[in-house]
Amino acid sequence: MKDVAGGRRLLVRDLAQLATPGGTDAPLRGGALADVEVLRDAYILCEDGRVTAFGPMRELRAALGDSGGELEELDGRGLCALPGLVDCHTHACFAGDRVDEFELRATGASYEELHAAGGGILATVRATRSAGGDGLAEAVRRHRRWMRRAGTTTFEAKSGYGLDKETELASLRAIRENGGIPTWLGAHAVPPEFDDPDAYLDFALGEVLPEAAQLAVAADVFLEAGAFDAGQARRYLDACRAAGLALRLHGDQFTEQGAVPLAIELGARSVDHLETTGEDGIRRLASSEVVGVLLPSSALFLDRPMPPARALVDAGAAIALATDFNPGSSFCESLGVVSTLAVTQLHLTPGEALSACSVNAAHVLGLAAEVGRIANGHRADLVLLDAPDWRYLSYHLGGELVAAVIEGGEVTWRRAAGSSEPNEPR
Ligand code: NIG
Ligand code: FE
Repeated sequence: MKDVAGGRRLLVRDLAQLATPGGTDAPLRGGALADVEVLRDAYILCEDGRVTAFGPMRELRAALGDSGGELEELDGRGLCALPGLVDCHTHACFAGDRVDEFELRATGASYEELHAAGGGILATVRATRSAGGDGLAEAVRRHRRWMRRAGTTTFEAKSGYGLDKETELASLRAIRENGGIPTWLGAHAVPPEFDDPDAYLDFALGEVLPEAAQLAVAADVFLEAGAFDAGQARRYLDACRAAGLALRLHGDQFTEQGAVPLAIELGARSVDHLETTGEDGIRRLASSEVVGVLLPSSALFLDRPMPPARALVDAGAAIALATDFNPGSSFCESLGVVSTLAVTQLHLTPGEALSACSVNAAHVLGLAAEVGRIANGHRADLVLLDAPDWRYLSYHLGGELVAAVIEGGEVTWRRAAGSSEPNEPR
């Protein structure tokens, strides 16, 4: 993560609303997930890249005191400020696309059939291997711009489309050097030069892990029929944990293969997908510290059942939301769209959706002391919605919602003047 800007002051003033989830040392769960603090007619003061004060406009004068110095002002009339969104599960380091497969799926081919026939993930592996380090860095930068325009200021990205040493390490570098939080998805699929998952894991753990562990923050595995089974996932994750990496799992996407108990046993930070998780998995996850990361745009894109989000929250589980942005199962970089799906398809409230793609997602990445809330001392990462009410994040389906993005106290993206009707100041 880039260092915050030094010596700069930015005042965002006259905001219609400021909304932030609450925070604790642990991910929010139960009723706390829906608790959003909302201030009307608000300001936020950012100094040296951090939030140093926020509150109602009537308290601004006292907050500023008689401190002199240059103060940049941003007019927040008609806008709502939220914490910059945190996307804790993306596959943003890839080359090429799968638009041909997208069309084939419309005429009856299934995602699993395309994968079994050497397409799917392996089609993206071929494109990614031939992109080169510069091509991958450019791809991450392009995808980061897309995410930023949708309000995401912190993003995780996984390798997993290289599956050879050179491309896996180049992917992790491209992610790290372009603002992402890198996860080594060394066990995403078995590449064609190996015909057996165990032989591939011998290579990945022996040859790639030592350097991957220096570049990545976490490790991830695709635990699924046709990918890696529970024994192979355990072997991979055990070795990654011993090398100092935090653990994540892709689990229960198409079939239940024991991902939830394995995640709990190994103390993983998260288990992600959960479209097929049944009652036992819900109960176990709810009584654990593992965060269930829900990816409704992936379920939508593949026309799969939605994960049991309401049951998980009601049972007391900690959940997060993410895009799963990738060229095959979720070509969607917008956490706003994901929030709409969370409310309309997963039956979460707008407040639960916001907490799940901000503070709880930050916990999954181990960054909750820095990002995911508007709080004094936190990084000044903010998204300003062109909306009279913060709940437009989930209400405005796929609309032109983001007016500006602030990262480390600097405006890093702003919608061009005149590109749409300004929102009426309230
Ligand atoms: O999370 N399921 C495994 N991996 C990705 C999809 C990757 C792809 O289709 O390229 C996922 O859905
Ligand atoms: Fe994924």
